[in-house]
Formats: sequence, structure tokens, C-alpha cells
Amino acid sequence: MFFHRKELIVPIEVKKPDPVFAQFMLQQFGGATGELTAGLQYWVQSFHCPKPGIREMLQDIALEEFNHLEVVGRLIEEHTRNVEKTLTEADEKTIFALRGKGPHLVDERGVSWTAAYINEGGDVVRDLRANIAAEAAARETYEILLNRAPDTGTKMALHYLLTREIAHTKMFMKALDSLGKLTDPVFGNVKPDESVNVYYHLSANGAPLRGPWNQEPEFTYIADPAKVLEQQHELTGVGKH
Ligand SMILES: [Fe+2]
Repeated sequence: MFFHRKELIVPIEVKKPDPVFAQFMLQQFGGATGELTAGLQYWVQSFHCPKPGIREMLQDIALEEFNHLEVVGRLIEEHTRNVEKTLTEADEKTIFALRGKGPHLVDERGVSWTAAYINEGGDVVRDLRANIAAEAAARETYEILLNRAPDTGTKMALHYLLTREIAHTKMFMKALDSLGKLTDPVFGNVKPDESVNVYYHLSANGAPLRGPWNQEPEFTYIADPAKVLEQQHELTGVGKH
């Protein structure tokens, strides 16, 4: 059941309407990293989450994202209306000149929103990891928008939205941690084979660059994978034509 309260989750004040900036903001309305994508992604995931607490969190955050979608929509509306007297040449080339004022379900290039932006599957670990990536993408977009925002009121609203993406990231990470999967990449019922800790150095030139992602004792570093694979194929006959 849903209700709609005629009140924004964060107040907005736009002093300097800017249709060019509003077009950039469309990414967070009808774009891949936007609030519609996030809200629908977490909502759909909640239906196949077997853990009641995590399921409720996914629903709560999904609804918060719809609140954010409303804020972004209102910001776009405010940045595109009452601008007739101040329209610049650039403003007249925006999507709003043709499609009309206010938000549309397209991104800043006019590309229609698509469910293909949504990353969801049947496993809660997979879904929570996808959500951390989604929040990172949204946070990055908000930072770019924040730097371009034409007035303080818009900046304040965007700062709030950026902050909430970080808050959601923390929640998703804690949920993964509660499943013991924040630092453990293995999940599901199929155990990986012995290659799970092997690092193949496939960069052909320059000195090998080493770090925790390819170091012993966690990883076996194969400096010359071609040679090793050749030896393995000799032994097993696999890969020979
Ligand atoms: Fe979020």
C-alpha cells in the first residue's frame, strides 16, 4: 500500500533557474544512475529476499529513493519554469524546448529510461553488491551536478541527496556483513575450483605491478601464464588441437 504526502523529504529553493543545468539533472531522473533506477531496483529485489530484516531495508530504501525522485523532479521543474524572459541561446537548445518543462523519463541526452539499467537477480548477496555499485554511481553523478549547480538552494538539496547515497551504501555494506559476505567473495552452492586464488599476469610489457590483489599468501602469482598453461595442457591434454 502506498500513500503520497504533499511534502518533499527535503525542502528546495531555486533562486537561479537554469534549463541547461536541469538537462544535466535528467540523469538522476530518467538516467542509468538515477533515482527511478535505484528505487525500482531495490523494490524488485525485496520480493526475492528471504531475510525479513534485509527485505524491509530494501523496501525502506526503495521508498526513500522515490522520495529523492520527487525532489529531483521538482528541482528540474523549478529550473525550467518561469524562464521565458531570461532564456539564453543555450537554454533554447535544451530538451525542454521541445519536450516541455519539468522532468521527463529520459536522461540528459534524451535517451528513454529502460529497465535494462536495473541490476537484480535471485541472490541477496549478488543484489546487495549491485546496490553498492548503484549507490557509487549515483554519488558520483551528484558530485558532478553539485559542482555545476547554479545556486545555493540547489547545491544544498544535491548535497543532501549525495549524503543519502553514502548512508545507503553503509546500510548495504552492513547487511552484507551480517551475512558474512562483506569480505568473502564466495556465495551460492558451488564451491570454486583451485584456480580461485590464482592471479594471471597478462600484461605483456612493463614491470609487473604488485599489490594486495595479487600477492602471496592469498594469491599465487603467475608471472608467465602462457608458459604455465602450456605445461598444464601438456599434462592434461586439455586445450590441444
Ligand atoms: Fe540511494
